[in-house]
Amino acid sequence: MIQLGVNIDHVATLRQARRTYEPDPVAAAVLAELGGADGITLHLREDRRHIQDRDLRILRSTVVVKLNLEMACEPEILRIALDVRPDQATLVPEKREEITTEGGLDVAGQESRVRLVVDKLQEAGIAVSLFIDPEPRQIEAAARMGVEAVELHTGKYANAKGNAVEEELKGLHTASALVHQCGLILHAGHGLTYRNVQAVAAIPHMHELNIGHSIVARAVLVGMTQSVREMKQLMVSAAASMVPAK
Ligand code: PXP
Repeated sequence: MIQLGVNIDHVATLRQARRTYEPDPVAAAVLAELGGADGITLHLREDRRHIQDRDLRILRSTVVVKLNLEMACEPEILRIALDVRPDQATLVPEKREEITTEGGLDVAGQESRVRLVVDKLQEAGIAVSLFIDPEPRQIEAAARMGVEAVELHTGKYANAKGNAVEEELKGLHTASALVHQCGLILHAGHGLTYRNVQAVAAIPHMHELNIGHSIVARAVLVGMTQSVREMKQLMVSAAASMVPAK
């Protein structure tokens, strides 16, 4: 069955707005699990703008489902990952000035740098996923890297308007088929919402979607458990019935 990784970064964003202790992403993770999350995803950024080291360490011992750490290929964060040992690390690009991760990791353009980090993580028993744009050269570079999975960046699809939506979706289908052909596990994420998730969940071989902002935004109004449950229901029903794009 298709898996939902709930990204809890924005629970920490709200806490950091006042540099206080609430809301606690650790509590949010418990409620997300109760709502049916198959994984908890968090991004320990170099500037620590939302998730803090303490969050990662506590979540490592409290999360029962898959713990997925999004991280840049930076020595300091790698050291922490090797110490804390999440179940999965998703390598992402990171720029200090960006509001959120803006593009996929350029694996093809920096193979030796990425390989160094991938090797260290895998030696420690951590599964590696690479967050990449849905482009053949990036997928082929990821396959050469010997990683377990790739997460296709769905941001362009999410931001597309009118006819461009179909175009972007077509691109995701083509890229997903190549990911599967390369023997990699298929993940996707970024910008997915209750309105646009089903077409992505229905892509053949889709294994995991990582979704943050939309779930946390709804959780503010209806509660975390319900918001996760509603997203999971949409994904599972789309994957079962292959709902076409709207
Ligand atoms: N996947 C990756 C690799 C990300 O960097 C993010 C954002 O942190 C997400 C998924 C979730 O994106 P969103 O918050 O738009 O759902």
